[in-house]
Amino acid sequence: MADAASAPKDPETIRREDYRPPAWFIPEVELDFDLDLTRTLVRSKLDVRRSKSAEAGEPLVLQGDDITPASVKVDGAVRNDWTLVEGDLVLPLTGAAHSVEIEVELDPSTNTQLMGLYGSNDMLCTQCEAQGFRRITFAPDRPDVLSRYRVRMEADKAKFPILLCNGDKVAEGDGENGRHWVQWNDPWPKPSYLFALVAGDLVANSDNFTTRSGKPVELNIWVRDGDLDRTNHAMQALKDSMHWDEETYGREYDLGLFNIVAVSDFNMGAMENKGLNIFNSRYILADPEVATDADFDGIEGVVAHEYFHNWSGNRVTCRDWFQLSLKEGFTVYRDQSFSADMGSAALKRIEDVRILRAAQFPEDAGPLAHPIRPESYQEISNFYTATVYNKGAEVIRMMATLMGPDRFRNGTDLYFDRHDGEAATCEDFVVAMEAGGEIDLTQFRKWYETPGTPRVSAKLSHDPQTGSATVHLTQKIAQNGEKPAASELLIPLRTALLDPETGVHGGEQLLLLDQPEKSFVLEGYKDHPILSINRGFSAPIILESNQTAEELAFLSAHDDDPFARFEAMQQLMTGYLTAKVSGTPVDRDIILLAVAKILADPTLDPAFLAEIILLPSEAFLGDQMVEVDPQAIHDEREKLRGKIGLQFEKQFRKLYKSCAPTEFSLDAEARAKRKLRNVALGYLAASFTENAAETAFDQYREANNMTAMQGALGVLSHLEADERSIAFEDFYKRFKSNPLVLDKWFSLQVMSMRTDTLKRVDGLSRHPDFNMANPNRVRALYGAFTGNQVRFHDPSGKGYQMVADMVIALDKQNPQTAARFIPSLGRWRRYERGRSELMRLALEKIAAQPGLSKDVAEQVFKSLA
Ligand code: ARG
Ligand code: ZN
Repeated sequence: MADAASAPKDPETIRREDYRPPAWFIPEVELDFDLDLTRTLVRSKLDVRRSKSAEAGEPLVLQGDDITPASVKVDGAVRNDWTLVEGDLVLPLTGAAHSVEIEVELDPSTNTQLMGLYGSNDMLCTQCEAQGFRRITFAPDRPDVLSRYRVRMEADKAKFPILLCNGDKVAEGDGENGRHWVQWNDPWPKPSYLFALVAGDLVANSDNFTTRSGKPVELNIWVRDGDLDRTNHAMQALKDSMHWDEETYGREYDLGLFNIVAVSDFNMGAMENKGLNIFNSRYILADPEVATDADFDGIEGVVAHEYFHNWSGNRVTCRDWFQLSLKEGFTVYRDQSFSADMGSAALKRIEDVRILRAAQFPEDAGPLAHPIRPESYQEISNFYTATVYNKGAEVIRMMATLMGPDRFRNGTDLYFDRHDGEAATCEDFVVAMEAGGEIDLTQFRKWYETPGTPRVSAKLSHDPQTGSATVHLTQKIAQNGEKPAASELLIPLRTALLDPETGVHGGEQLLLLDQPEKSFVLEGYKDHPILSINRGFSAPIILESNQTAEELAFLSAHDDDPFARFEAMQQLMTGYLTAKVSGTPVDRDIILLAVAKILADPTLDPAFLAEIILLPSEAFLGDQMVEVDPQAIHDEREKLRGKIGLQFEKQFRKLYKSCAPTEFSLDAEARAKRKLRNVALGYLAASFTENAAETAFDQYREANNMTAMQGALGVLSHLEADERSIAFEDFYKRFKSNPLVLDKWFSLQVMSMRTDTLKRVDGLSRHPDFNMANPNRVRALYGAFTGNQVRFHDPSGKGYQMVADMVIALDKQNPQTAARFIPSLGRWRRYERGRSELMRLALEKIAAQPGLSKDVAEQVFKSLA
């Protein structure tokens, strides 16, 4: 343990149950910005009103973080009787309504946290969610205080020709000494976290959209000169999202202007500020030469996500940060549904479940587990998690499954109508869904307060005499590292019983498991049917079934639910590999046979084929084991990959040829071919039957798109061949001026299985293009590396040390991004003894640093506890 002297004093824990309504409301806010990179003056005028719930004589408390007031006035008179209490401005006020004016001076160039007002390249931009506004000026920085904002921005016209803020531009003009100004007015009351401004030398891709009630909207995507021709995909995604939200949820856009700005330095993906979304440039910029198909999808999804927040988040916002999943879970569900509608619903579901299992299940099983509506936090930035976002989306999806599309829509209509203009709670949402959707969600509510992933066991028995099949279900949850205990969530399981000869079934049933244990008797089965359960992944659970490898193989060949079919194959492979790792004898032929059937199935969509023959990831396999041995998992998985590659070499060669690229297109067929070709290349390389380096190198040289290039480099990265270094050097020279592509260059190298990867991580951390101040670059190097199971978990512990040292250094400039790396070490209890101890030591080293941020301290101490 860290010694008491160096440990930070216990940071304050904020609890959900302690919520109190605001003592003061601020109906109107006027802001005046005199902007410059190193010296910005912020003048604010708050129209403050004492609320009925305020205690008699309660002073005005305005949050501040790392700022000091240059002057404070009340009703026009200078006041000096204020105090600063832990950064917050406390001002005694006697009346029920006052006008408070405050001046603050900022130096955005020194703001390395990227929260509040900061400089990125030569532009100025803001990030206020969750608590960045208090780094700009003093305010009741809480989401249940909604204000109408009027903002004046002034700056040097040559340096900052474009001045953007929320709402509508109402006036502009030139000032003296080459300065200019713009006046903005946002008619929609909003919490401070949705405030944004941008000043810079930007150009726009401009377009327009007419809402279905006929209102014109001007659309702009602002980027740096030179990036303009990479904004078309984002623009199309924006227009598609606007149309989709009208069709699917009946929601229209509500301003005449919608601006998006791309910035290179950004902690997260993007931000839904009212009328002025600010994006990490990686979710805006794309063309085939620099972006993979996955990048194109990411852009479409994130543009939609932020746009959808205009209703689920902005028009109806959150009462407090414990309600974060109210807007995030719902909005992720909305963007997932949108992407499913725009492309293949089956592939989208497979991808979303993969993300949930890779990011959320481990979180739910580790020391940082929390319910989708947390009960307490120290630093709210730590709760922008896969649980709040992705499990939150699964909870909304289950509601949709329970209600069906029409009742679900009635529920969301009622929710939006009832709470428009309000700061709502998750409970408000559930109540509206109950009323609008005509359903009782009393038991369902447990999903909001229960951490951990439920384990559902499913057993099928059959009585040939009566023809009845019985599905016997139980549910359990493990919490706080304890043994799983009976649970009582409402778990909707889409289920079908397949004929054991034909694979046909007579219709799906929705089984509602609402007790710790329950049996469902289904009639009319002459022969013992095959159980297909949790189809479409209808509930975010871990399924434990007594299905045999033969049954799984049967489902992988016959199930008509594409997710279930994919899942059966994954379970089959997972069962084999986990048995091998733990030294249990197990039959491999059944997997080879199942793969053979898949490869011979002419009806399969090539994109689905590419998914279903992929082996489960090393991380996922580790999650299934009691004690993780990354090396053993890696070795067994590589052996199976090699065997499949060898066995089906002819088929993979054929696929590789038949998927050869033609002219670039983003249509489904062309994308499917790119995907399948990369998967085939991977298997051919794994089989050692051909000169993988040569084939991959040819693919690299001939590629007319980034998907093919990245696929080739991914294969080369693992090899000991001259082609590897030649290709990586060439790639660097070609793309060194494009930061988003250079990120790929960093990532691909540290995802290598080669034994010298640790040395490479160390080398790349000293590369002139590595930059600790840029979160994308930090994630490209260290995020990719911590995902490399076999090398990050090198038994020497050097991987852990490198990450710990990086966290310690980064915490001094950007705590939020630094804290994101703690979970990779925080899973120390899951690993075999040697590694476990080394991971713990790395955490202890971080814990012992003086002056840790709240962000990192919360994650580290919870991980060690
Ligand atoms: N609301 C944003 C989104 O999900 C995330 C912003 C969170 N940013 C942060 N610094 N915590 O789209
Ligand atoms: Zn969001």
